Amino acid sequence: MTTANRHQRPESAAPSPAPQRSDFASDFLWGCATSSYQIEGAGREDGRVESIWDRFAATPGRVKDGSNGLVACDHYHRWPEDFDIAQDIGLNAYRFSIAWPRIYTGEHGQPNQKGLDFYSRLVDGMLERGLQPWATLYHWDLPQTLQDAGGWENRATIDAFVDFADAMTRTLGDRVKHWITHNEPWCTAIIGNYEGWHAPGNTSLKTALQVAHNVLVSHGKATPVIRANVPDAQVGMAVSLHPLRAASGSPEDQAAMERHDGLRYRWFLDPLFGRGYPQATLDLIGDAAPDVVAGDMEAIAVKTDFMGVNYYFPEVVADAPDHAPFRARVLPTTQGEITAMGWPVAPEGLSELLTRIENDYHPGPMYVTENGSAFDDTVDANGEVDDVQRRQYLMRHLASLKDAIDNGVPVKGYFAWSLLDNFEWAEGYLKRFGLVHIDYETQQRRLKNSGKWYRAFLRQE
Ligand code: FCB
Repeated sequence: MTTANRHQRPESAAPSPAPQRSDFASDFLWGCATSSYQIEGAGREDGRVESIWDRFAATPGRVKDGSNGLVACDHYHRWPEDFDIAQDIGLNAYRFSIAWPRIYTGEHGQPNQKGLDFYSRLVDGMLERGLQPWATLYHWDLPQTLQDAGGWENRATIDAFVDFADAMTRTLGDRVKHWITHNEPWCTAIIGNYEGWHAPGNTSLKTALQVAHNVLVSHGKATPVIRANVPDAQVGMAVSLHPLRAASGSPEDQAAMERHDGLRYRWFLDPLFGRGYPQATLDLIGDAAPDVVAGDMEAIAVKTDFMGVNYYFPEVVADAPDHAPFRARVLPTTQGEITAMGWPVAPEGLSELLTRIENDYHPGPMYVTENGSAFDDTVDANGEVDDVQRRQYLMRHLASLKDAIDNGVPVKGYFAWSLLDNFEWAEGYLKRFGLVHIDYETQQRRLKNSGKWYRAFLRQE
């Protein structure tokens, strides 16, 4: 079977009925996901040092509304209220990330006790409310001093990450069993260092591919350390992937999609599952290939306990002869339902993607570690946020998830992105993904109608 066939879907798939909680296993995890820089604020408190996102956001033109994460949702102080809302929705799991700059004090220094204490309190707050903690170690907020020394391109960052993983799992391992080493290595590497519209803003393919490699190695080296510190640890990674469609049936567009797939999907998954880097992509990139040290590929292929998949939308790829070396271009979406991000709404893509991963790699248990949508929400005169489109999005993606499970894909949990509206990276506060609306002037929280729908779904009302 060719990749093109694997990507194809029947055009007229019948709409799935509204899902019920009882359609899923009784021990299925129902969560929301967040990340430290996007919600915490308290940017200069309790010893937190500068991160690459502080530096990037302070650079004019990088973030659309000129904002930053210094205050964000003030979750650092308001987390009890946020977790009360999560409990009220009926979640039984919560995915958060740990801000390395709260812990890091310099090369191989002692971790910052105040940072450790904060996450300890946070985890206790989750457990008190019946939220199973899912900790992500790296969701993009690299300490700036590590970037100044070369960032992820420098192998010293691998060692620093393993130290960080060690400190966090020693501190939280008695209570946190689920550990995600990295969120979306694609974004860290390619968006941050090749496309350049995320921190640190580099635009070199060679740098980006070395970063990708070192990030994967750091995952491989941290995993046994986490396991050594955490009895019954479950360790995995969260990858962002898209089902792909060729822009047309032409052989040129099909071939472009294959080339794009080589970088977007195989470059990251093949090595994680012990297959090394895909040869066709190595042939395309030539000198931009990363330096690989003996033992790296074995480290990267460490067996994990689960795979986290972040799904937002399918990508349409066209031949682009002038876009060396991949000669492929992702087309903007111009028709059909689209979100405020300009992303197409395509629920069937979720089950398609999960099914492809299962067929290609059999990764074991899978979790949807992010899925969600931004729309231009408004608070009405009654103080309600009637976000019909987000409610539909959530419902339809859960129906698609059920399809995947019915087809035999072992998905064990779902984390909606996101609990709160938050700092959406280069978009600043212009894009709202939350089930909870944030008024950034007053920090008032309001459960949107999508959040109320999720609550009714979880309560089986
Ligand atoms: C993902 C990121 C997450 C958020 C969503 C919308 O790529 O992991 O932090 O920005 O997109």
